[in-house]
Amino acid sequence: MSESGENVAPTPRGLPAEVARRRTFAVISHPDAGKSTLTEALALHARMISEAGAIHGKAGRKSTVSDWMEMEKARGISVSSTALQFNYRAAGSDIDNVINLVDTPGHSDFSEDTYRVLTAVDAAVMLIDAAKGLEPQTLKLFQVCRHRGIPVITVINKWDRPGQAPLELLDEISERIGLTPTPLFLPVGIAGDFRGLLRRGPEGEASEYIHFTRTAGGATIAPEEYLTPDEAQAREGEPWTTAAEESELLSATGQDHDQEMFLAGQTSPVIYASAMLNFGVRQLLETLVELAPAPGSRADVTGKERTTGDPFSAVVFKVQAGMDTAHRDRLAFMRIVSGEFERGMVVTHAQTGRPFATKYALTVFGRERTTVDTAYPGDVVGLVNATALAPGHTLFVEKKVEYPPIPSFAPEHFATLRARSAGKYKQFRKAIDQLDSEGVVQVLRNDARGDATPVLAAVGPMQFEVVTARMQGEFNVETQLDFLPFTLARRTDAESAPELDRQRGVEVFTRTDGVVLALFSDKWRLQYIEKEHPNLTLEPLVATA
Ligand code: G4P
Repeated sequence: MSESGENVAPTPRGLPAEVARRRTFAVISHPDAGKSTLTEALALHARMISEAGAIHGKAGRKSTVSDWMEMEKARGISVSSTALQFNYRAAGSDIDNVINLVDTPGHSDFSEDTYRVLTAVDAAVMLIDAAKGLEPQTLKLFQVCRHRGIPVITVINKWDRPGQAPLELLDEISERIGLTPTPLFLPVGIAGDFRGLLRRGPEGEASEYIHFTRTAGGATIAPEEYLTPDEAQAREGEPWTTAAEESELLSATGQDHDQEMFLAGQTSPVIYASAMLNFGVRQLLETLVELAPAPGSRADVTGKERTTGDPFSAVVFKVQAGMDTAHRDRLAFMRIVSGEFERGMVVTHAQTGRPFATKYALTVFGRERTTVDTAYPGDVVGLVNATALAPGHTLFVEKKVEYPPIPSFAPEHFATLRARSAGKYKQFRKAIDQLDSEGVVQVLRNDARGDATPVLAAVGPMQFEVVTARMQGEFNVETQLDFLPFTLARRTDAESAPELDRQRGVEVFTRTDGVVLALFSDKWRLQYIEKEHPNLTLEPLVATA
């Protein structure tokens, strides 16, 4: 691409430089760990907002920002925000990095989309509440990161509140998930008395002390002072000595950062922080810029790598549809893999071979929708009225490419669905096929139940709400949803199916992609059957390609 660009200068830096300055990541966490607070703190540090406080409007914090985080409600369905893009210039750098924070819908809107988002990022920040340690939703999301080989940076949040000992939390991480934590910074002061961060140098030697000062309600960036280890010792005494000793202990057990091991998903750099007080937030941004990978090449269905310098291509990772019946609003979000995107360019939809015009390209964060004119690998762009697009689909120009489909993730909620009126059966079948192909929900069948009452399988119950609302709104079919008492699925095969079907609390189905799934009422049932029938095929379903 030329360097000329007259008005908006689409490529003032050229494609390689645009790619190199980008970092695309998601935060994986359990509800309440502080994801919204951290997102806001990042925006504050990137100077997108001048004061934090939109989330909770605490005393001393003002509600200044537009209501990004407030989930939009349309017919009872929350529309999650999608991607926040901001520039960040690290201290001493002359490059503005472009940070894409892709939202992982959590809380009540936890769904298969939450997992799919992780196919669109190059790194993840695992946000942990210092008092609670690893929690279930974090663990599930971490497993997806591990499966996909996504490097993980760990942030231990809420250090301003009483919690566990710093090294205890690290032990929990290595023992429970086999990820070796390698702190880059250690807290000075116990949980609840957060004074600053010790920066760990080579071999765990304390290289610097970053002392933070609280601001009223944590509304503005916490002033930082940089001290030498000797100055830190003189100033903080015991808490500094403790942190320095802990750092040495960690080195003795090999818990020092190693870039290769981090990129391989074996170790995780750790930062202690307080998102609410804005402590450690700058350090997280610096870590993302310094250590997280820039967008890289991606293998296509044949295993051939498409490099970021190749002509434009992108993968759709999320589709939001039917939220606004008046407009038949249907937004498809794509992550750009290669080349430069310019709004208005006509791309090819790999799955149908049809052209797709990109006149309406947007970035979406909460209620804010901004038109995108140019975008680069790592960026997330929303396409309006993208009726043919479904998660996993590929768009490209010039050089044909098709990326592998996004895997289906392990469902944990199951329900039967039927049309209330038998006369609507045809529309009902059509709608089910449509919603299935869009990846709104997984559809399971078996002979015993027949086609009139398929079983829907979901990662989060909100997916069922979307199905029933769209059935009614778009297909004009009133449906009846009945939950089934299963909580767990395992991949099995045709040989094991008859024996499994004979077991109490178990039912076997075939998913549309042909995978045979056995559903279990609970983990004890599964454990019992595994013990009694060791020859049956029962594989965990983190993700199935
Ligand atoms: P989420 O998006 O991950 O669900 O979490 P969110 O940011 O909404 O934070 C959940 C709660 O944790 C909030 O408190 C928030 O203020 C608090 N919190 C987040 N980060 C920190 C931190 O670093 N330190 C402390 N002490 N608290 C933090 P809440 O009780 O839900 O609301 P509020 O009563 O505090 O307004």
